[in-house]
Amino acid sequence: MNRLSIGPQLRTTSVLVVHLLLINLNRGLSKLIGSSQPIVATVGDDIILPCHLEPAVDVAAMTLEWTTSDPDPRFVFVWRAARELVLSKHPSYKGRTSLFTDELKQGNISLKLSEVKPADEGKYQCFIPKLNETSFVELLVGAAASPVISLTGIDGDKDGVVLQCESKGWYPEPELLWLDAEGKILSAGPTETVRGPDDLYTVSSRVTVEKRHSNNITCRVQQRNINQTRETQIHVPDDFFQFNIQSGSPPPSTSSPAVTVGLAVSLVVCIVFILLLVFFLWKKNMIKLKKCQWGENDHAAKKNFSKSKTEEQISIKEEREGEQLMRKVEKIKHIKEKQAEVQQLQEERMETNNTEVYLSTLTLTKSFDISLSWKSDIEKDIHIDSSPLLML
Ligand SMILES: *[C@@H]1O[C@H](CO)[C@@H](O)[C@H](O)[C@H]1NC(C)=O
Ligand SMILES: *[C@@H]1O[C@H](CO)[C@@H](O)[C@H](O)[C@H]1NC(C)=O
Ligand SMILES: *[C@@H]1O[C@H](CO)[C@@H](O)[C@H](O)[C@H]1NC(C)=O
Ligand SMILES: *[C@@H]1O[C@H](CO)[C@@H](O)[C@H](O)[C@H]1NC(C)=O
Repeated sequence: MNRLSIGPQLRTTSVLVVHLLLINLNRGLSKLIGSSQPIVATVGDDIILPCHLEPAVDVAAMTLEWTTSDPDPRFVFVWRAARELVLSKHPSYKGRTSLFTDELKQGNISLKLSEVKPADEGKYQCFIPKLNETSFVELLVGAAASPVISLTGIDGDKDGVVLQCESKGWYPEPELLWLDAEGKILSAGPTETVRGPDDLYTVSSRVTVEKRHSNNITCRVQQRNINQTRETQIHVPDDFFQFNIQSGSPPPSTSSPAVTVGLAVSLVVCIVFILLLVFFLWKKNMIKLKKCQWGENDHAAKKNFSKSKTEEQISIKEEREGEQLMRKVEKIKHIKEKQAEVQQLQEERMETNNTEVYLSTLTLTKSFDISLSWKSDIEKDIHIDSSPLLML
């Protein structure tokens, strides 16, 4: 009886003890596992910083912390009471960190970090206070970009071509090498390094390539920590060297600011010179035209086309644009030709008193009259001048 009544109590107690033992065992046995290898990320990537309990324990209800120690301790992500505690989060990680909430039951507290920046580089710690368990993950951030080679000018002393190589957007700072076609390193100027506001590095270097070198030149930029290499090859044509030897003038390169400025200045000088030449020729032409005009006027003076009138016309025209002026001069010439024809016909008519000639004179004068209406601003002048002809 007694044994029977004690039985269930004992069983309950033993189950409790075993349960407690198991939890304690779990606590003692479960370890947080991070990553022994650094995680290498490229700037802009979304990455996972691994961290999980082994053996697995459901941690969804526990407090979980991700922190980084560089340069100050700061919270990257805090999970408390089954949701994110945003208040303690460092502003530089705002909106960029999260946990895989479905994985928490399996003890997986890996952190997702979006849009990696160079400043994210450092040592990260995942921590479960209740289990006093911690683990570390190192993040290396890298960025690589292809170099660009440009021809910047010539080296008169060495009779060679100066090449520049530039590569923007590296992290960490890379090294730059110039290689010939055989892969031998060429001696070049010092590598200039500039760090931008985004923490990315720009490296550049110049090298003078002589004709005796092979013409295929490679610029290689590499970063061993992130295992990244980028290279660009350029082929310098033979005639490029010949060009330099023959003329000694800089090659048609637009990469160097000095060359660009030089080209711009010479272009401006050229344009000014051409404009001056055009103006000079135009002026010369005008004087010639004037002379011509005056000469014709002398002949046409007796035909009521007074010199003063033409002078006045020309002085007005001078104020207008050259093209318009040329057109008018053409028209006046045309009109004068017509006038001459009319005059000739009139003379013939007076001599022969022939009706046919008279008729053709009338037709001509009419067509002449129509032609006058072409241009309004000279119409008046000529109409007055030619009206006596029409009356004849
Ligand atoms: C933890 O979760 C992440 C995201 O789902 C996954 O990539 C990773 O493999 C998981 N780790 C383990 C040990 O299951
Ligand atoms: C937590 O673990 C560390 C070693 O990992 C130990 O030094 C520390 O005393 C532990 N703290 C508690 C409260 O158990
Ligand atoms: C230079 O490179 C070009 C292609 O980029 C290749 O066709 C040529 O054979 C190379 N010449 C040498 C001397 O390596
Ligand atoms: C670097 O990358 C190359 C391929 O991109 C790979 O073959 C090599 O094993 C890598 N080296 C290291 C140290 O990661």
